[in-house]
Amino acid sequence: MQRRAREAERMKSQVLFPFLLSLFCGAISQQIRYTIPEELAKGSRVGNLAKDLGLSIEELPARKLRVSAEDYFNVSLESADLLVNGRIDREKICGRKLECALEFETVAENPMNVFHVVVIIQDINDNAPRFVTKGIDLEICESALPGVKFPLDSAQDADVEGNSLKIYTINPNQHFSLSTKESPDGSKYPELLLEKPLDREHQSSHRLILTAMDGGDPPLSGTTQINIRVTDANDNAPVFSQDVYRVSLQENVPWGTSVLRVSATDQDEGINAEITYAFLNSPISTSLFFNLNPNTGDITTNGTLDFEETSRYVLGVEAKDGGVHTAHCNVQIEIVDENDNAPEVTLMSFSNQIPEDSDLGTVIALIKVRDKDSGQNGMVTCYIQEEVPFKLESTSKNYYKLVICGALNREQSADYNVTIIATDKGKPSLSSRTSITLHISDINDNAPVFHQASYVVHVAENNPPGASIAQVSASDPDLGPNGSVSYSIVASDLEPRELLSYVSVSAQSGVVFAQR
Ligand SMILES: *[C@@H]1O[C@H](CO)[C@@H](O)[C@H](O)[C@H]1NC(C)=O
Ligand SMILES: *[C@@H]1O[C@H](CO)[C@@H](O)[C@H](O)[C@H]1NC(C)=O
Ligand SMILES: *[C@@H]1O[C@H](CO)[C@@H](O)[C@H](O)[C@H]1NC(C)=O
Ligand SMILES: *[C@@H]1O[C@H](CO)[C@@H](O)[C@H](O)[C@H]1NC(C)=O
Repeated sequence: MQRRAREAERMKSQVLFPFLLSLFCGAISQQIRYTIPEELAKGSRVGNLAKDLGLSIEELPARKLRVSAEDYFNVSLESADLLVNGRIDREKICGRKLECALEFETVAENPMNVFHVVVIIQDINDNAPRFVTKGIDLEICESALPGVKFPLDSAQDADVEGNSLKIYTINPNQHFSLSTKESPDGSKYPELLLEKPLDREHQSSHRLILTAMDGGDPPLSGTTQINIRVTDANDNAPVFSQDVYRVSLQENVPWGTSVLRVSATDQDEGINAEITYAFLNSPISTSLFFNLNPNTGDITTNGTLDFEETSRYVLGVEAKDGGVHTAHCNVQIEIVDENDNAPEVTLMSFSNQIPEDSDLGTVIALIKVRDKDSGQNGMVTCYIQEEVPFKLESTSKNYYKLVICGALNREQSADYNVTIIATDKGKPSLSSRTSITLHISDINDNAPVFHQASYVVHVAENNPPGASIAQVSASDPDLGPNGSVSYSIVASDLEPRELLSYVSVSAQSGVVFAQR
């Protein structure tokens, strides 16, 4: 027997004994037992004391039956029925004790007798299971594996035995099941079991209804809500908005010009979705030309881009989230040519001395033109600035021949300055010029010419022998030896030997001497 019940009984005895002793010393003889369910209405009949004590109806008024437990029971004067006189709440009187009994005394007078009465209070299912907290909040990481268990707070049911809490259930759902477990003290608690993996990106919270049901007939139930927040696991890699980004960029744009922005997203949350960008194993020399903002993905130029050096860049960019996941994309940058290079003219071979009798079409020089620009910006035409007996003939791509296209005459023009101008077709166009000086070399193509067709000389007789009597003179415009004139007498009306005895001519000077 429980301690508190004993105590209550002892106190009742203490109240009772002086009263009993002063009136009558009768023995406490019998014990009467009744069994009732709890919560009977006031005035309900528990049993008939007269019958159970063996008293007749006639003697009842004299015997004045009374009970000591007046809070719960009183006795009807006419029939000696033991009646319910107050609320009998088993749970209030006995708590969760399995056995619950109210013990008290019935006193009869004339003669005085005291009887023990025991009323056993039976449990009825008058309490529904109840969850103490309003709701149950759970945080489950989406990486949790199926099979993981989550013990939950139990519900309370004041009733005992069959009427006590029996089973927990949850509403049907895709991810969880529930079982009812028993803890060492015999109380029952619900245990949530993860059946299927969770995906925060798909559904970030789940709401379940937990029901606790007792074993009464009919059963009573209580519910509460389970709020499950699915926390993020870094289970998503970043994804670029495009696999390949293409952009064209004018060459010579200023330092820091924005090229484009790459962008990746990550479905995770928080730090798991924080993305940083970096160039991916592109050659150092390439990435030096561009800056990549690690936080925004903005690519800007870091230097001057020269189409003629590199016309196309392919950069690999990596996006990395807060954890280990990465994604890659390509950035293709086409550099657009600007007409920033003038054509270059190079003399490949060149004969400086051109004989004046060279044939028309003789090649004097081979010229190469080159323009580093592309397209129209790199298309070059060549021409000669001056009016000269030379022209340019295109041979193969970018090569020109300088050929003779007119008669040369050293005696008229010994040198030519030839200026070759190369112009590209860019807008605006650029050009460059190269000058060459051509020297015409001599050919002995001019005969000496006497300044007079005939010379008439009068010589006085008795002239001194060996005196000069005249001088002839001829000139030749040719150069050097080809233009130097020597004189000799080729014909006369005298015999050659006779002639020699009369006159001679100096080969160098053309002075004519009389011999005798
Ligand atoms: C029992 O008590 C109730 C009130 O507590 C009273 O109305 C009723 O008359 C009593 N019955 C008897 C038989 O005394
Ligand atoms: C930008 O260019 C400078 C030199 O021109 C170089 O030192 C620097 O590293 C470059 N920056 C990047 C991000 O490549
Ligand atoms: C060629 O140019 C040089 C110097 O540029 C000049 O002295 C010479 O007279 C020019 N010759 C001709 C034929 O124009
Ligand atoms: C004179 O003419 C000949 C050919 O007629 C030529 O070979 C020679 O080089 C010329 N001499 C000079 C000094 O120009």
